[in-house]
Amino acid sequence: MDVFRIQGGARLVGEVHITGAKNSSLKLMAVALLAPGKTTIRAVPNILDVTIMAELLRRLGCSVSYSAETETVEIDVPATIEHRADYDLVRRMRASIAVLGPLVARTGAADVALPGGDAIGSRGLDMHTAGLERMGATVANEHGYLVVHAPDGGLVGTHVYLDFPSVGATETLLMAAVTANGVTVIDNAAREPEIVDICNMLLAMGAQIDGVGTSLLTITGVSSLKAVEHTTVADRIVAGTWAVAAVITGGDITVRNANSEHLSIALEKLVTAGAEVEITNDGFRVQMNKRPTAIDVVTLPYPGFPTDLQPQFIALNSIAEGSAMVTENLFEARFRFVQELTRLGAEVRTDGHHALIRGRSQLSGAPVEATDIRAGAGLVLAGLVADGETTVHAIDHIDRGYVDFEKQLSKLGANIIRETSPQLS
Ligand code: UD1
Repeated sequence: MDVFRIQGGARLVGEVHITGAKNSSLKLMAVALLAPGKTTIRAVPNILDVTIMAELLRRLGCSVSYSAETETVEIDVPATIEHRADYDLVRRMRASIAVLGPLVARTGAADVALPGGDAIGSRGLDMHTAGLERMGATVANEHGYLVVHAPDGGLVGTHVYLDFPSVGATETLLMAAVTANGVTVIDNAAREPEIVDICNMLLAMGAQIDGVGTSLLTITGVSSLKAVEHTTVADRIVAGTWAVAAVITGGDITVRNANSEHLSIALEKLVTAGAEVEITNDGFRVQMNKRPTAIDVVTLPYPGFPTDLQPQFIALNSIAEGSAMVTENLFEARFRFVQELTRLGAEVRTDGHHALIRGRSQLSGAPVEATDIRAGAGLVLAGLVADGETTVHAIDHIDRGYVDFEKQLSKLGANIIRETSPQLS
């Protein structure tokens, strides 16, 4: 497995260009299942998860091609598709659960292996299944598979109230509802920009959805949908990671093709930390010329502060002036990476879902291991400002969310190389 070898101390200066969001692209590929014919999705990042999702769709009967050069995926969906999503593929990626809704909608049944993905918490599926049951489906857990059957005549529109605005459950129910009989209301729905992106693609396909971007989605089922072309929304988490990179290294980074409105709270936090943030016509520019001030962060569903930027902000606080409290409300195991960060000399104490960080004037390079995508990004950011050499292991996690991360960092002036890890004996 590869490692990143980083020599800390460089100030990052320059420009980066953001592509489509991983967390949207993968779901849009699943949305394609809802319409026979050829769907084209643009701005799809060249990451392993896209390859896994493409393979999953192939096993359901689709023809899928991906061009890394144009970042375009083409999916040809046949009139009849399979309804069993393979265990080996699904366990490798949480986002595979996105096929659940479309499969039940299209075929009246779905056998989807219980998903894997990042080890960041329990990540239940109870809201997905309870919603489908309310729409008339039967759900069983058999031999590692979720086995779902729609009633004869198909799913029936109903009022679903989510206990929590879960991104995944909102997506499953939305995709199940667009061709259900009658009206489905999803109350307390998630409002993330990636959900809006899915709604926009579904609307172009002929779906009827009211309340897009709000927590009350009203979906009137239609009898069929048509295949379309769609461009993925920009990745706000990658954009936010670059913003933190500018601040932590005392640099100056212009982030292009990003939507600053999707990052309002995070950018505002960086301003509080002492950064200068300028909104440009296609993104934003972040400049920093002093040591950051520590900033408290509380993760919440959108439009709250994103949990996927929490590790990067802990890294930032670890070299800030003063102390900060970071509260994680979504994924309980997300603080696992703190143990790795403390190897670099960071002073962080966790208690339940709170982390107290006392900023140090300097971190000290050491070997560390990425525990999930965003934790990996946080560790790289910390390595960029640590004294001496930091090696980040298990970077396959980072590769799942950041295309050519080290190349882009090098272009901005970072001293980072990818190396094939020596085998441990
Ligand atoms: C998605 C994103 C992830 C992001 C998260 C929150 C993908 C592939 N991943 O994850 O990067 O951090 O949104 O913005 O898009 N929960 C239940 N029961 C359910 C559903 C969820 O208990 O039926 C819990 C989860 O365990 C978790 C919390 O709700 O603690 C949030 O989950 P959810 O919003 O569904 O996130 P994901 O879709 O898994």
